Amino acid sequence: MRKPVVAIDGPAGSGKGTIARLLADRLGFAYLDTGILYRAVAYINVGDRNLSTLSISDLLSIPESDLRTDEISAKASEIAKLPNIREILTKLQREFVANPGEGSEGSVLDGRDIATVVVPGADYKIFVTADLEVRAKRRFDALKQANPQITYDEIYQSLAARDEQDRTRKIAPLVFTDDYVLIDTTNDSIEESLEKVARVVEKGKFSK
Ligand code: CDP
Repeated sequence: MRKPVVAIDGPAGSGKGTIARLLADRLGFAYLDTGILYRAVAYINVGDRNLSTLSISDLLSIPESDLRTDEISAKASEIAKLPNIREILTKLQREFVANPGEGSEGSVLDGRDIATVVVPGADYKIFVTADLEVRAKRRFDALKQANPQITYDEIYQSLAARDEQDRTRKIAPLVFTDDYVLIDTTNDSIEESLEKVARVVEKGKFSK
């Protein structure tokens, strides 16, 4: 029997990654940030490689500081439209869910299409969002130390462009459906939002 899966989807800067990581720690579940996989593929020159040779551990071995730049964010969203790349990354994510590791009671994955495509049978489906201005401010605060030249306006524009691209692409777009529980983090701290998500999951006690 498959171990329980919590699927967390939402747009950039919504806080879904932080919530997903903390929730996984709390539950003793394995955590996979699927955006990092798309960022890693954007970072390496996949054109030179046979896609089927990619593994999660290879992709996760690239230093995160190289992947969390605005340039790689935009590139990741570009390559995320390509069917051959989505196909291989979806397969790797499903393998992770099937085998989250001996010590893990289940898994938490965050991304754009986890509940809609990667694990449509996920036990919990959470959609984390926030107003664009708030998301841009959070991203600006996170990036400005490493990159003092960056402006709020640039971040705002790049998030808006990525939202549009991720929501309108043909394959696996970011889309809110009725089976998600919606968590809006606009007016809450990430910790408050984490508590709301944890309540949804703990209430179910993995009985589904
Ligand atoms: O951290 P942030 O929310 O800014 O982005 P991310 O989760 O690291 O994802 C980077 C890009 O990868 C997104 O803009 C999507 O285009 C793509 N992605 C995707 O298509 N499907 C996923 N499951 C996760 C990410």
